[in-house]
Amino acid sequence: MQQVNVGIVGLGNVGMGALTILAENAEQIALKLGFRLKVTAVCSRSAQSKTLPASLGPLLKTNDWREVVCHPEVDIVAELVGGTVVAKEIIDRAITEKKSVVTANKELMALCGCEIWDRAIGAGINLAMEASVCGGIPIHAVLREGISGDRVTALFGILNGTSNYILTEIERRGGSFEAILNEAQKLGYAEADPSADVDGLDARSKLAILAALAFGEKITPSDIYTEGIRRIMPVDFQYAHQLGHTIRLIGAARQTPAGLILSVRPSLIPKTTILAGVQGAYNAVWVRGLYGEDTFYYGRGAGPSPTGVAVVSDLMRVAREIRSGSPERVSPFAHERLGEYQPIPITLQRSGYYLRFRVEDRPGIIARLATVLAGKQISIEAVLQIQSENWRDLPFVITVEPTTEAAIREAIVEMSSHDYLVEPPLAMPMEKPL
Ligand SMILES: NC(=O)c1ccc[n+]([C@@H]2O[C@H](COP(=O)([O-])OP(=O)(O)OC[C@H]3O[C@@H](n4cnc5c(N)ncnc54)[C@H](OP(=O)(O)O)[C@@H]3O)[C@@H](O)[C@H]2O)c1
Repeated sequence: MQQVNVGIVGLGNVGMGALTILAENAEQIALKLGFRLKVTAVCSRSAQSKTLPASLGPLLKTNDWREVVCHPEVDIVAELVGGTVVAKEIIDRAITEKKSVVTANKELMALCGCEIWDRAIGAGINLAMEASVCGGIPIHAVLREGISGDRVTALFGILNGTSNYILTEIERRGGSFEAILNEAQKLGYAEADPSADVDGLDARSKLAILAALAFGEKITPSDIYTEGIRRIMPVDFQYAHQLGHTIRLIGAARQTPAGLILSVRPSLIPKTTILAGVQGAYNAVWVRGLYGEDTFYYGRGAGPSPTGVAVVSDLMRVAREIRSGSPERVSPFAHERLGEYQPIPITLQRSGYYLRFRVEDRPGIIARLATVLAGKQISIEAVLQIQSENWRDLPFVITVEPTTEAAIREAIVEMSSHDYLVEPPLAMPMEKPL
């Protein structure tokens, strides 16, 4: 039984998670594969101080990634460093050395995965990236293989565990965004610099990868309208609940007759939809296909073990291909714009909207807001106001009938000059039942 050798670069959360599984689950992995996966070299900046599982046996431990990538006894390189600079150098060098790569790097794959894939396939090696999107959910495999025969018409996801944790805690306990974020940072659920998570950038990278796979279209992060969750207040949940909805950071890719509309933004979703039940740091992806209709995928979006499983499973797949001599050649990236699914501006989206105002109370406010909306041909559906003593900062909500994002934006710009507003109005789309 000839083994396949693995080199791991990056011994952080994901690297150590994958190593632990490779060590603890080695026998079963060997049984499933019919050969062993052997870790022969590992690297991190502080590799010497890392305690590795003893059962891995003797291996090279270095702080120079080149020693792993160029090691004659490394067949597959796992890039688990992250970022777009060193990680790219590692992957580029691995391709030059004709070694297959497994990566968890959503940022790099969303940015230039397509070009990297071309070079990898040109060199006759493989590039696997299951761990880059939704940690423990095998969504890459699903879109690439499981439902690849379908024609996807929409994909909605809760793609960032940190922001979902923060939103569901605000919902559950009523704390402010700042207080819950602070707590999440102390618990290790949020980074010291939380912007990638709470400003939607992490979810945007994931949606770029998923939408490219789902629609066979060339998608870049700049195609995706992105808005984070910093403005969400406990009162927004109170209003959303009155409307039979909740609020989640939704990554959405939907086909319209004019093209593909892509967004990551806080949205109202009906409480009855399965996505509304996704709590805490969990992720979920809901896909609608023309033929197979709805499928739903749910699981842990991050963490050493769930993401480690994705890395190890990719290592197994690539190792199998190395042994059988047939690297998989179905590209997870589209290389050109196909037309039908070309991304189009978010301003063309049509939906009902939730508009939340914070005002210094005085007579005539609703009339002035209604005049602006009428001027944009937007029909009011409901006006909601929860009782409050604080007339200097009174929150209330107007929901409107389906209209375009362009009309809503024009209305918000016009309203923002009104002197009774404490802050510009907050607009969120109200998604239909999924
Ligand atoms: N964390 C998750 O749950 C999760 C989930 C899905 C995907 N991902 C992705 O997985 C990747 C890794 O994330 P992570 O959370 O494991 O990060 P992490 O905990 O910060 O680990 C990064 C590792 O890379 C090493 N490293 C950094 N620069 C290096 C260099 N120049 N040479 C050698 N080693 C270097 C670090 O070394 P030191 O240990 O010496 O500092 C550390 O071991 C990222 O692309 C991330 O987006 C993470």
